[in-house]
Amino acid sequence: MRIDASLRSLADLSGVRDGPRATLRFLQTLLRFNQRPLDELLAMGRDGPPVTRLWLVLETLYFVNDPSAIRRVLVENRNAYSRATNLEAPWLRDLLGAGLLTTDGPEWLALRRASQPAFLADGLAAVAERLAHTTNRVLTTWQPWREPGAVVDVFPHLVALTVALALRAFFDHDVDEAEALAVAHALLRGQEHILRHIRYPFWPPDPVPLPQNIRYRADVRTVRAALRSAENARTRRGDRDSARDLFALFAAAPGDDTREAAQRRRDQFVTTFMAAPENTATALTWTLYLLARHPAVLASVNDELCAWPGGPAAFPARAGVFPQLRRVLSETLRLYPGAPYFDRRALADDTLAGESIPRGALVMVSPYVIHRTTRFWTAPAEFRPERFAPGGDGTDNPAYIPFGVGPRRCIGDQFALLILEIVLPRLLARLRPERLDATPVDVDPQINLRPRGGMLLRLCPTEVRGRE
Ligand code: HEM
Repeated sequence: MRIDASLRSLADLSGVRDGPRATLRFLQTLLRFNQRPLDELLAMGRDGPPVTRLWLVLETLYFVNDPSAIRRVLVENRNAYSRATNLEAPWLRDLLGAGLLTTDGPEWLALRRASQPAFLADGLAAVAERLAHTTNRVLTTWQPWREPGAVVDVFPHLVALTVALALRAFFDHDVDEAEALAVAHALLRGQEHILRHIRYPFWPPDPVPLPQNIRYRADVRTVRAALRSAENARTRRGDRDSARDLFALFAAAPGDDTREAAQRRRDQFVTTFMAAPENTATALTWTLYLLARHPAVLASVNDELCAWPGGPAAFPARAGVFPQLRRVLSETLRLYPGAPYFDRRALADDTLAGESIPRGALVMVSPYVIHRTTRFWTAPAEFRPERFAPGGDGTDNPAYIPFGVGPRRCIGDQFALLILEIVLPRLLARLRPERLDATPVDVDPQINLRPRGGMLLRLCPTEVRGRE
């Protein structure tokens, strides 16, 4: 999202249009908007109209905060809207190749169809046991999980864990802790750089040797090298076409085993890989945070885990086996959806909730804001997992869109839930998250919804015993 809103738009927003007061209000609002864009969107959307118009320096943005209008953009009238906003920028393609996130139109459709098999239930079921195995290995041998008690920023370590799980799922490849952490930091910095380009459209292209650009290119090399070595190991093992991993199913055109086809698949995979670990780790991080702040809910999850016959060693490697844990996850994704906002470009004139949308306008949707809008939720700021029990306001609520909606809905949603429901029971069976500081952790809306300043938690030893 570009957040350099113009004088006119911000004066409009602040309700003062002329004179020195308007200038002062404008400067204050500009500062707030640049520092805390989500807060500003929340203030606009929470109790505001379904569609808010903002005049930006170079274009007009329509912030849509209504389930029917969002459905019209993403589902019913989707052909009138393009994903080709910032993510189609040539600089992004140069570095990341043409993947699902960076394409649109027929090119995207072909890719989506070809990638889908890797994310269907059968493929995921085939790798789930190995994911559970890797999770146990990481939790017993990597920092900070193996030596509980210290206060640590768990976020980068959870990204490292999800990197390890993604490599295991896609290549049946195990990485060590140092490599996983190096890739995790490269991904985190890489996303920051992508956001830099989005926020500052005139940022010099990446070949210009600025320190940030040089760092980014090195980070992309780190990520690509990790993927290459995982793929090489897979080829050496002779697993190329086996169904042991998801790469066999990913974007594989039948009969096309040329060098170019292999390069295409690799490119497509890099963008998917850029999306996967941080998003999933963000959900893990906010879940641990919310459980640390709500001991009664944590106790209810632990009771559910303790009731499992045979204990943690017998936890199944499947999603959907712990209903209370699933409710906690759903509620976490409501309060802290991994993608705080995304946008579309109008290809034709349209009308949304009575507001005319001209061709060429930018349309923005924010899961974060609509999940916290009082029109659609009871006490939206409160953490209430029971709202996802039958009859609760979370069940079948069209204002619940953590994975988006329509044909461009997250392709990795089931994969993410599988990882979350494999990791959390195993982690909580060994460790109890505790927050020493009572101050709430603020959100940092990068491309993903990160915790501002990291997520310091104490991981206390605990032991969940199963029912005999
Ligand atoms: C909790 C974790 C996740 C959340 C909250 C999330 C959220 C989202 C959202 C909201 C979108 C739609 C954006 C739009 O309509 O413009 C999306 C798209 C996408 N996600 Fe996820 N995601 C998660 C995990 C994953 C994982 C694990 C993967 C890959 C393994 C993944 C891969 C993608 C891809 C490739 C797209 C683009 C799909 C397309 O355009 O066809 N995501 N995600």
